[in-house]
Order: sequence, then C-alpha cells, then structure tokens
Amino acid sequence: MLTTSLPRPRPVAPGPLPTLRWGIIGPGWIAERFTEALCRHTQQNVVAVAGRTKEKAARFAEKWAIPKVCDDIAALLALKEVDAVYIATPHNHHFPDGLHALRAGKHVLIEKPLALNAQEGRALQAEAQVQKRFCMEAMWCDFTPKYDVLTQLLEQGELGELHTLIADHGEFFTPDHRIFNPDLAGGPMLDLGSYLVAFSVKVGNGAPDTICARGQAAPGGVNGQASMLFTHAKGLHSVLNTTLFSSTPGTAVIAGRKARLVLDGHFYAPGNFTLTANQGGNTLHWQDEGHHYAQLRYEAEHVAWCVGQGLTESPIRPLATTLTTLTVMDEVRRQLGIVFNEEREPRIV
Ligand SMILES: NC(=O)c1ccc[n+]([C@@H]2O[C@H](COP(=O)([O-])OP(=O)(O)OC[C@H]3O[C@@H](n4cnc5c(N)ncnc54)[C@H](OP(=O)(O)O)[C@@H]3O)[C@@H](O)[C@H]2O)c1
Repeated sequence: MLTTSLPRPRPVAPGPLPTLRWGIIGPGWIAERFTEALCRHTQQNVVAVAGRTKEKAARFAEKWAIPKVCDDIAALLALKEVDAVYIATPHNHHFPDGLHALRAGKHVLIEKPLALNAQEGRALQAEAQVQKRFCMEAMWCDFTPKYDVLTQLLEQGELGELHTLIADHGEFFTPDHRIFNPDLAGGPMLDLGSYLVAFSVKVGNGAPDTICARGQAAPGGVNGQASMLFTHAKGLHSVLNTTLFSSTPGTAVIAGRKARLVLDGHFYAPGNFTLTANQGGNTLHWQDEGHHYAQLRYEAEHVAWCVGQGLTESPIRPLATTLTTLTVMDEVRRQLGIVFNEEREPRIV
C-alpha cells in the first residue's frame, strides 16, 4: 500500500536564526544566484565580495549593494565584520580558499565539490575542527523541500527494497567554458557528476561496494564524459552518466519493490517528482513552483542556524557524507585515469 500523502518538508532551520555577515569569494555565475537568493529571500547580510580584479567585484557589489569590495581573498578574510564566507571559485581553488578562510577564523560554505579529492576534504575537516569553525559543502539540493520529502520517503521505506537508480546529468558547454580547462580541474565529474554520485550515496545510504566506470576524453585533455555502474550490498544498482558534450534530460528514477519515484530533470534542482505504486498504479505528485535558484536560500539559512547552535558540521550534510562522495569520485577518476594538475605534486597551502 502506497502512503496516502507525501510527508511535509521539515525546516532546515528549526529555531532561532542569527543574521550572519557573509563574504562572497569568486563573483561568478553561481555566486550571482546565491547572492540574489540571500538578498531577496533571507535576513542574511552580504557585507563583502572578493574577486581577482576590483572592477569585476565592484560591479557585483554595486548590483547587490554590498558595502566592501576586495581585490583579493586575503583582504576579505582580514575583515573583522565577516562571519562566514561562501566560496564559489573554480574547483581547484576550493581547498586553498577554504583552508585560508578557516585559518582566518571564518565559517565556510564551499561550493561543490568541497575539494578535488578526499585527501583535501579530510584536511579541510581537520582544519575546521582545529579552528572550531563551521564547514560545509554547498550541496544545495540537500536543503530543498523536495529533497527532504524524498529523504523521508526513503527513510520510511515507502519504495520498498531498492533495486535500481538511473540518473544522468549532461550539459552542452561551449569550448571556452572553464569546464574544458585542465588548469581549473575541468571535466564533468566534479561539476555535474558530484550530484549523481552524491545521489547514489544518499539513496544507497553510504558508499557503493563496487564501482565500474568508463570515460571518454574531450579535446584539450579533460574527461568529456563518464558512465558509472555502482552496486550497493543490499542490491541497489546505480547507472549514472555525465557528459559535457550534450544536454541530456537530467532525470532520475529510483525503483523499489513497492513503488518507483521519477524525478523530472534536473533531478537535483527544485522541480517535480512522481511516486507511483507498482501495484494498483496509485500516484502522488510533488510540485515546485517559482524561480528555483531562490532555493539557494535554504543552504545559507541552514548554515546560519548551525552557527547559531554552535555546530561545526551540518546534521543534514555532515562532512563524513561529503567525504564518502569524494572517495567514490576518487575511485571513478582512478579507473578513468583522470589526474588533476594539483595531484601530480602535493600542494602546500
Ligand atoms: N550549486 C550550483 O547549482 C552550482 C552551479 C554552478 C556551479 N557551481 C559550482 O560553483 C563553482 C563556480 O562555478 P561557476 O559556474 O559559478 O564558475 P564561474 O562563473 O567561472 O565563477 C567562478 C569565479 O571564481 C573566480 N576565480 C578565482 N580564481 C579563478 C581562476 N583561476 N579562474 C577563473 N575564475 C576564478 C572568478 O571571479 P574573479 O574573476 O572575480 O576572480 C570567477 O567569476 C564550481 O565549483 C561549480 O562546481 C555550483
């Protein structure tokens, strides 16, 4: 028997919410959306922005009425009035930027992936513990009402024994995009693939037991697409594909013995899903409306709540979960022969 109604989403900040003073590092595409979500939909306060050039950071600051503009990250981290930073630089900058921010005594929200690999991720975790500061990967989907409803359905066993997860995430990019740049840890794995791997870890409730991956190179040397088959001990098979050659529907299906859940593309973003019983065909629908990047507010409000509670890790996305995802991605990359520049020689930060 399928449940008669979907669970209600639980609040990401179930109590008093301090107004943090935020600094934005890396005023690019996602930082714009994050800042808009904070400025328009929360009581959080964006007080500073840092880019590599003052002109670009100043344009960003003007648009969102941000009082302080810095032309490097050190200047922003020296500001006493900044409590927390959102790091939205390219992947290979997350680790050094995150480490510097923690050492400067700031709480950090770091865009996905937290770091290039699990080793760097563990170093960030250790630094956060030493500094007693909050550290979290900005896996924004985990904080959306849709994902929380899905989480509750999985926890309550509403789908029955899980056997199949099928998901894809492909986007077409022009050759000038950073995703083709080997010097910025390009390729789809860390970017689009993070969502797929994190989803399989979530649905399978931990790391898979076996991992099989195949890849195809893109011109310029980065990986262009990766296909993955993960098996979990309890019988779940995850079939995943990510590509930067083409746009794919970005849908996901979780199929269990009792019911199947079909998420419209992009499966990780706010949107719609359908839960359908295998027998009888009863169906329940989840619908998200409105501008979906406004939901970036939830990860920021969750950070503020955690900081207010004196937590150094999120109960929704603890660093252990992020490290599991990074470890799985490390194994996928090992099988595909992908080594980032920074991994050829250990970096000293
Ligand atoms: N949550 C999501 O939905 C989402 C969506 C897209 C991306 N992301 C993640 O967010 C991060 C940034 O992605 P994005 O698409 O926003 O990238 P982007 O538009 O290229 O922005 C990155 C910013 O980082 C700064 N930067 C610092 N060092 C840089 C360098 N060496 N080369 C280029 N830029 C540098 C740049 O600002 P200055 O030039 O001012 O320094 C640039 O604007 C990635 O890790 C990505 O995975 C998340």
